[in-house]
Amino acid sequence: MGKKFREMSGVDLKELIADLNRAYCDEWLAYYAYTYMASVVSGKGYEDMEEFLKKIAADELEHQGEVADMIIKLGGMPVRAFGDIEKNANFPYPAPPKETDDYDKIIKFVMEAEGGAIEVYRKIAKKTFGKEDVVYQLVTHILSEEVTHEEIFENLK
Ligand SMILES: [Fe+2]
Ligand SMILES: [Fe+2]
Repeated sequence: MGKKFREMSGVDLKELIADLNRAYCDEWLAYYAYTYMASVVSGKGYEDMEEFLKKIAADELEHQGEVADMIIKLGGMPVRAFGDIEKNANFPYPAPPKETDDYDKIIKFVMEAEGGAIEVYRKIAKKTFGKEDVVYQLVTHILSEEVTHEEIFENLK
């Protein structure tokens, strides 16, 4: 998307790029945390938990790519250095529980992370509603997937 798209934007693009960059960092942290937890999960029926975690990790990785594309479309650049990811995120790294077979703790950890993501995308959706349609469309699409993630884990309780 080019010049006209950016010029016609009804929102402060610099601020929007910064919001999206924070969300971009959140996605990487979630992807890492869920992938890690999927690798180490143990206990009875761990295969199912591993599968759920891998599924949502794959979605977060996809979100990361979609948000990066949007940042670039808006004329920005995604955070370049891996070491800057946590510093630029909305929330601290969602540390997976040490107890690899404690499903209550795993569920709580995922739900907290998803709750944060829902809050972040809802805020960006509100900011862009009626003003920046392309970004609005992307963030509501991601938001609905985050809501599904929360639901999947809520139903495991
Ligand atoms: Fe996500
Ligand atoms: Fe999610």
